[in-house]
Amino acid sequence: MNSIVLIGFMGVGKSTIGKELSYRLNLPFVDTDQLIEEETSLTIPKIFELYGEGHFRKLESEILNKVIQHNQVISTGGGIVELKQNRDFLKKQDYTTFLKASLNTIYQRLEGDQSRPLWNQPYVKRLELFNRRQAFYEEVSNLTIETDELSVSESVNLIISQLKL
Ligand code: S3P
Repeated sequence: MNSIVLIGFMGVGKSTIGKELSYRLNLPFVDTDQLIEEETSLTIPKIFELYGEGHFRKLESEILNKVIQHNQVISTGGGIVELKQNRDFLKKQDYTTFLKASLNTIYQRLEGDQSRPLWNQPYVKRLELFNRRQAFYEEVSNLTIETDELSVSESVNLIISQLKL
C-alpha cells in the first residue's frame, strides 16, 4: 500500500487524525513539521525567523520526498501545497486526503496559538491565505473530508471507508 498523505489548513487536525489513522491501520505515523524540527534542531518559528519561509519550504519539500518512500501515514504542514513541485508530487499519490474545515472552526481550534508564523498575522492575511489554498488542496487530493462536524474517530472511519483501506 502507498503512503496516506494528510493535507489541509493549519489547525484542521492533520496530526491528531493522522495518529489515530496510523494506529487503526497499524502503519507508522510521521509529521513533516516534526521531522524538520528534529533534523534542524530548531523550532519552526525559529526557522522562519532566521532563514525565512522560502528556506522552510525547501526543507519541507525534501522531507516530503523522503517520507513518501515508506508506507506510512504522513501529516504535512498546511503550506505543503505552496510549491508547485509539491503539488505535482502529491497529485501522483493514490491516497492524498484533504482534511477540510471552515475558517470559523480553525479560528476556534487555533485560539491563542503563537507557534505558527503564518497564523500569527492580521485577519485579512489569514483569510487571503485560507482562500488561496483551498483550490490547491482540492486540486491535489483524491479525497476530501469535511471535518467541521466530525469527531476524530468519525473522520478516521470515513477516510478508511472512502479510500477502501
Ligand atoms: C504552515 C503550517 C504549519 C507549519 C508552518 C507553516 C503553513 O503546520 O508547517 O508553521 O504555511 O500553513 P500545521 O499545518 O501543522 O499547522
